[in-house]
Amino acid sequence: MKMAMGQWRNAGGQKLIGFLTVAMLSLIGFGFFWAAPARSASENQGSYTGVASCAGSTCHSRMDGDGNVVRQDELKIWQEPSSPSGAHSRAWAVLNNNRSRFIARNLGLADAASAPMCLGCHVTNGASANGAVRLDDGVGCESCHGPAGGWIASHYAGVLNAPSVGAEMRAKHMANLQAGLRKLEDPVVRAGVCADCHFGSAKDGQFVNHRMMAAGHPRIGFELDLFSQLQAHHQEDADYGWRKFGAAGARTDHVQMWAVGQATVLERSLDLFRSKRGQDGMFPEFYFLDCHSCHRRIFDQAQPVRTGVDNVGRNLPEGYAPYNDENLIMLAAAARLASPALASELAARTAEFHRAMAVDRAAANQAALALGQTVAKLKAAFAAKSFSSTDAFVLVDAIASRAMTARFTDYAGSQQAVMGVDTLLSSMVSSGQITIGAAAGIRADIDRAYGAVKEPNSYKPAEFQTVFERAVRAIAALK
Ligand code: HEC
Ligand code: HEC
Ligand code: HEC
Ligand code: HEC
Repeated sequence: MKMAMGQWRNAGGQKLIGFLTVAMLSLIGFGFFWAAPARSASENQGSYTGVASCAGSTCHSRMDGDGNVVRQDELKIWQEPSSPSGAHSRAWAVLNNNRSRFIARNLGLADAASAPMCLGCHVTNGASANGAVRLDDGVGCESCHGPAGGWIASHYAGVLNAPSVGAEMRAKHMANLQAGLRKLEDPVVRAGVCADCHFGSAKDGQFVNHRMMAAGHPRIGFELDLFSQLQAHHQEDADYGWRKFGAAGARTDHVQMWAVGQATVLERSLDLFRSKRGQDGMFPEFYFLDCHSCHRRIFDQAQPVRTGVDNVGRNLPEGYAPYNDENLIMLAAAARLASPALASELAARTAEFHRAMAVDRAAANQAALALGQTVAKLKAAFAAKSFSSTDAFVLVDAIASRAMTARFTDYAGSQQAVMGVDTLLSSMVSSGQITIGAAAGIRADIDRAYGAVKEPNSYKPAEFQTVFERAVRAIAALK
């Protein structure tokens, strides 16, 4: 019952080149599958075994998703050439495309496909340390599910044949987690895994700084729940509920996934901003700042033209580049649902942070630390909360409230708002609050809002706000 997700896409025809390269590479690559050498499970804990070890028609590479417990065609979905669900299998291949060659040339790299500053996110982390991991597998299964050395042998034993009892499956899953399988059904764990590559981390080779973007790397945009659905290769059926949450009817809480994702990325951003990633040469790292505050036209004439738009959410004097506050705005919309006290604290510390940016580095770092602590508390509150069926409507209303839309003055924040509403709409469908038909009727409005943030250079705040409000009114009417 997965509905068609929105227009989220990278700009550019480069994709096609990527697909073709990958299609050819995987023809070659998958001819050479080989199994990891046998060692004891404890010896292997933490070691990578490679995508080949997950393949095989009795494992995860069936042609049809009709497996007894899990679909078993996960490999096929991960490789799907015409869909974002296949993006991770192509992640290394794109390092050989024209765009990557262009980036490499600008950065003075001999070859992007072997450059550590690219491999950190475009292949399975830890790949270079282990011969079983092939670069041309791109971001393989173990990038997310964790190195399989400790659990590859035991995790399927007994499960494939018998439709087991729920509680037994649950116990088995817990044992797998003990052996190193990552608990990706947990929003906090999942968000941390994705954010390493879809925002950046302190680890070597996992950061796209402004220099890399200036050299041609796409801007990184991310929303946990939407992106999870775009790459999903599993089904949440009765036994999934048993395995992951200990009850047949239990399902992923998409509103929670969205909220924890927002908090995680913001926490990561503030942490990295305070770290050595926050500075490049004598400059603050521009990655953390609102791109369009610098990248605008200049008017220098008798009758000046203002290209900026006042933003009540940022009390930073005119003339500075403000922090990229896309996730801050989303959190501000969601915070009240978790705790009114934390919502007020977030508002106060946000204001203090923007203000401190104009003081000096030490003051900005101090304020970032304090704000980050509030965000961490909010993340924990979201992770502990089970969102009620009306919360999604409350959130859509909050994101679209006058107080919030006045803060959508830049491209990144506006894009985040559309992704948020898209996610919330699909969570309303999956929780049965609204029908697929009703959601489909709103699709066109959401797509128009995506259209208004598709092209950074033609983004106009007022026009965005108009189409966005129309989409949100249509959702509110379904209440
Ligand atoms: C912090 C992780 C990270 C690092 C480091 C990184 N990338 Fe990326 N890259 C991404 C992500 C995530 C995307 C996908 C963006 C999206 O679709 O939201 C991407 C997308 C791309 C694309 C566009 C792919 C396409 O399908 O058109 C190219 C090309 C690319 N990266 C090249 C590079 C090169 C070259 C380097 C090194 C100079 C590099 N990347 C370093 C995370 C990273
Ligand atoms: C980009 C991260 C990522 C990659 C790469 C990835 N997965 Fe997943 N996978 C997930 C997430 C997130 C889920 C849903 C949460 C969960 O059930 O663990 C999931 C779910 C699954 C499930 C269902 C688990 C269950 O108990 O029902 C299977 C099976 C699976 N993945 C196998 C694979 C295989 C095989 C590959 C490689 C071909 C792979 N995954 C690659 C993130 C990933
Ligand atoms: C090891 C790094 C890494 C991790 C971890 C990772 N990704 Fe990615 N992801 C990438 C790269 C690189 C790309 C771009 C590849 C390309 O363009 O071919 C990408 C692309 C995607 C895309 C396609 C985006 C588009 O515009 O088509 C989705 C969706 C996605 N990732 C979701 C996730 C989710 C959800 C998680 C966490 C469960 C995750 N990723 C974890 C590196 C990673
Ligand atoms: C504080 C100001 C500032 C901010 C904020 C900023 N940039 Fe830049 N950007 C620059 C400067 C300065 C250059 C370098 C121009 C040069 O090298 O000639 C540049 C160059 C670029 C280029 C190369 C463009 C060209 O014509 O050569 C791209 C692409 C780019 N930035 C993207 C971004 C993105 C994406 C963001 C937001 C994440 C961003 N910038 C944020 C100041 C900024």
